[in-house]
Amino acid sequence: MKGVILAGGLGTRLKPITNVTNKHLLPVYDRPMIYYPLETLAGAGLKDILIVSGPEHAGHFLHLLGSGKEFGLRLSYELQDEPGGIAQALGLAENFADNEPVAAILGDNIFEDDLSQAIRAFAADPQGAHVFLKEVSDPKRFGVAVVEGESIVEIIEKPAKPPTNLAVTGLYLYDVEVFKIIRALKPSARGELEITDVNNAYVTSGTMRYTKLKGEWTDAGTFDSLLKANLLAARRPQARRRA
Ligand code: DAU
Repeated sequence: MKGVILAGGLGTRLKPITNVTNKHLLPVYDRPMIYYPLETLAGAGLKDILIVSGPEHAGHFLHLLGSGKEFGLRLSYELQDEPGGIAQALGLAENFADNEPVAAILGDNIFEDDLSQAIRAFAADPQGAHVFLKEVSDPKRFGVAVVEGESIVEIIEKPAKPPTNLAVTGLYLYDVEVFKIIRALKPSARGELEITDVNNAYVTSGTMRYTKLKGEWTDAGTFDSLLKANLLAARRPQARRRA
């Protein structure tokens, strides 16, 4: 199974700092933001990881992470010329994936749960798709899932009136069909290829599974969520303690 970190986009909600750097390079407690999704994928034993970023500050990722040797990984890089959506960024990973399933993670998502078992289980039997849901107090900001028992019935992107408080978090496990689904997507009203449309294709075909997260989870794309991410990161056991 291959890993993909989606680190494109303009980080508009964190301006002006994102005028001069990429959101995913900003510090979250004691390390750059992108270390967290990298750790989530590497912790599950994935060795081949592609980083998709916009052209604006792409060289900085190379300076920071290089070949990945230091982390025991093989890192590759891909440019997303324009921020055309999360699904468009993932579509750029098709050659890299080379007919293997993928674990795609948003570069600004920080998970407290250990997801390595779930990722390994999917890698061992990669069929359909798997997402991770988290109860949140502000579901309007996210893709929101409607579930019935073991199944997801529908995912609605940023609903004005959320039918549940179950956010679809930014780790997505996909079988090899995902690139076919992405190629057939049409841009949404906001002009992006939506990851929620990809997920709903799996929901429609009855092959979407989910896990509810127990621990904390946050994205870090706004000043408030970036603060939350810092606080969450600081209390992780892996956080470096300073004397
Ligand atoms: O954090 C989880 C949420 O992420 C999900 O619940 C939503 O369904 C999903 O659409 C997404 O919502 P956001 O509005 O938070 O997405 P945002 O535009 O902030 O992008 C999140 C990450 O995706 C960003 O850190 C980098 C990557 N990205 C985004 C875009 C628009 C790309 O790599 N390329 C892009 O063109």
